[in-house]
Amino acid sequence: MRVYFIGAGPGAADLITLRGVRILNNTLMVMYAGSLVPAEILTHCHKDATLINTASLSLPQQIDLFKEARDKDINVARLHSGDPAIYGAINEQMNQLQDLGIAFEIVPGVSSFTAAAASINCELTKPNVSQSIILTRVSGRASKIKEKESLENLAKHQATMCIFLSGAHLPNIIPILLKNYASDTPIALVYKASTSEERKHISTLENVLNEINVANWVLTTMLLVGDVLRPDLNFNSCLYSINYSHKYRKAKGKSSE
Ligand SMILES: C[S@@+](CC[C@H](N)C(=O)[O-])C[C@H]1O[C@@H](n2cnc3c(N)ncnc32)[C@H](O)[C@@H]1O
Repeated sequence: MRVYFIGAGPGAADLITLRGVRILNNTLMVMYAGSLVPAEILTHCHKDATLINTASLSLPQQIDLFKEARDKDINVARLHSGDPAIYGAINEQMNQLQDLGIAFEIVPGVSSFTAAAASINCELTKPNVSQSIILTRVSGRASKIKEKESLENLAKHQATMCIFLSGAHLPNIIPILLKNYASDTPIALVYKASTSEERKHISTLENVLNEINVANWVLTTMLLVGDVLRPDLNFNSCLYSINYSHKYRKAKGKSSE
């Protein structure tokens, strides 16, 4: 018996890995957070699978379900939105499974930050603009953030920032970002990226709060911030330059290697 923590992806039924689908096809107990994992994804489940929405269950109740599956000797697919390694709260489950001697495995998924970038046709690491991505969130009731990881401190890097779980905090976030990024720095809000309900709004830090109704961006919204979102800021990398040699291609002109 084994528990599979599967990345369900951002929502579209075809943005889950083939491995995730294969496991769902063959597993008789599926646990999923109904608040984030859309029903579409459940279409991949075995027709006889028991589907359990964990949205209202505590950790001990979920562990009881793992024990029940162990007693019946059936595998469990535990679906998490996006990639389970990012704000998935899987560590606390894995610790308990380890104590119980239950085997587990993680199947990665497409995270919502890359789905949001795809939705606005943006590369998050543009040469000479930003080569770093900060994945973060603001402090919540369930998880506090250390001061050294505060938005104010992270914003000092002026790197590309992907802010999770924070739509409701936009009125607090924007003034903090404005202390470190230029006021015309672009920000994109993407709600339910990749799903049929997807909405997006692209603006600047100085204007965004005047243009939106924050209430419409409270849940399931990704905030992308940074100069990489400027459509007019483009530098080519050396990678495909005709003057750049590497293991698989010789430079045509004078090599800049
Ligand atoms: C508990 S976190 C889970 C993140 C997930 N593990 C991932 O890799 O995307 C939930 C947050 O992820 C973001 N999110 C999840 N799915 C999203 C989607 N389809 N579009 C935009 N943001 C999404 C939102 O910021 C939401 O508040």
